[in-house]
This record gives sequence, C-alpha cells and structure tokens, in this order.
Amino acid sequence: MAHIIDGKSISAQLRQSVTEQVAVLRSQHEITPGLAVVLVGENPASQVYVKNKIIQTANAGMNSYCHRLSAEVSEEELLNLVEHLNADPSVNGILVQLPLPDQIDSDKVISMIDPNKDVDGFHVMNAGRLTVGLDGLVPCTPVGCIILLKSYLNDLTGCNAVIVGRSNIVGKPLAALLLREHCTVTIAHSRTRNLAQVCRQADILIAAVGRPEMVKGDWVKPGSTVIDVGINRIEGDGGKTRLVGDVDYQEASEVAGAITPVPGGVGPMTIACLLQNTLRAACLQNGIQVPHV
Ligand code: GUN
Repeated sequence: MAHIIDGKSISAQLRQSVTEQVAVLRSQHEITPGLAVVLVGENPASQVYVKNKIIQTANAGMNSYCHRLSAEVSEEELLNLVEHLNADPSVNGILVQLPLPDQIDSDKVISMIDPNKDVDGFHVMNAGRLTVGLDGLVPCTPVGCIILLKSYLNDLTGCNAVIVGRSNIVGKPLAALLLREHCTVTIAHSRTRNLAQVCRQADILIAAVGRPEMVKGDWVKPGSTVIDVGINRIEGDGGKTRLVGDVDYQEASEVAGAITPVPGGVGPMTIACLLQNTLRAACLQNGIQVPHV
C-alpha cells in the first residue's frame, strides 16, 4: 500500500509558520496583511471555498474583507470594485472567486487586478514572470502540489512528471514549477493519444482534470508518486453525496509509492498557500524582505 501524503498536517504546519510571520510583521512593522475576497453569485462550492478562506485568514491573524455581489452584477460594477480594492492600502491581496457568471469576462477582471495584489497568481504579468523564471505571485494550488511532492520525494530532479490537465489555474503553472525543480514535464489532456500509456511513464503523476476517478490503477507506474488535485462531489451509496478526486484512490493506492487522499490532500494546501501569498504581497508592497516560511 502506498504512503499517504498528509495534506492536512503539512498545510497546518505551513499555516502555523505564516501565522508566526504575520505576528512578527505586526510587532516589528505595525502591518497587518489584508485579503479581499470577492464572491459573485451563489455557486455552492464557491461559497464553501470562500467561507474557508475567510476563516483561515482570520485564524492566521490577517484581516479579511469579503465582498458578496449578486449573480446579476454587471461587469462594470465588478471592475469598479476591483479598482477600488487596488487603491485601498489596507488590502494587500485580492481574490475574485471563479467561476464568474456568463455576463462577466473573467480574463478582463483578472487583468484589472493589480499584479502586486494578485494572490491567485492569475494575472498575465505573474503567469509570464513564472514562465521566464522571475519572482512573482504564483498560483496557490500548484505551489501546494510542489510542497506535497517535496515533503515525500525531497529532490524532484530528473523525475518524469506527467500532468493530466492544461488549465491556466493548475496544469500550466504547475508545469513551470516542475521545470524549475528540474523535472521532465509532459502536459497531457483530453486529446492526448494513449493517455493511460503516457501516465504509466510518470514518476510523478498529477491529475487535474475535474473528472471523478478517471485515473485508474493500471495508469499508475508502480512506486510512483500520485497527486490528486480533483475535488468532485458524486452520488454515493444510499443517495448521499461524497467527495472523490480525479484518481481512483482504491486502485491507485495499491500501485503507487505515495498518494494524496481526497479530501485531505491538495485542498487544504491551496488555502495555506493563499495565506502565504497574502503575507508575501504585504511584504513586497511595504518594501520588507519576504520571510522564509
Ligand atoms: N475557483 C477554484 N479554484 C480557485 C482558485 O484557486 N482561485 C479562485 N479565485 N477561484 C477558484
């Protein structure tokens, strides 16, 4: 049976370390980092994520400002709010929860966020900086995946890494981070030929497609490390719903050397990395050296 990579405890350590640095920032510089979270509409999953982000921000000793807008809000109104948050010095980080309703162009909203406050790391400026290897704000879920991988493998140099999924939020930035760790990186996706065979070559296999239990046990190379980014709610026994990842955990955990569970794997890392990014953003905006957390 595979080693279980415990995202719950690793994220708790990271949150603890961020909390300590926030206290130092407050006592030495009289600065309390502030995160503004914007939620548009009533997507149930988004509501849960935003609630957790706000609770964890407060637990880390940071200020959080939640802006809830109706599903019918105009693009202009949302852009005005972002401009207002850009100009507010008490706000160090801005997160607009995705997905947004159809009348709003997400790319336009993201490009309006001040890149120095873009704690999601979605702005083209931050995406570009990551791609060319410059410092910037890096998307939270991919950073969480790297921390989990390094907690188990230590050094990723030379590993064959296969990412299934080519999104701007996970797949593409994760590829850049794995390259930075000296992996050989393949981004596979729904049109990849012989997907199972491609996955079987992976020393590190990352599933980020949003399809419940798509990656089967015989897609996994024996002894490899499997990171499951998926969070899918499916109908379980007796009409109850349950959360599953993009990996068939039962099957894959028989073959892999190590694997992340769902829940309790990548999910909690995303929020911990968001707190870290907010702390980083507050330091960068105030000309303070970013602490090593
Ligand atoms: N929706 C799903 N994941 C994310 C995320 O990491 N950031 C934002 N803003 N929205 C999301």
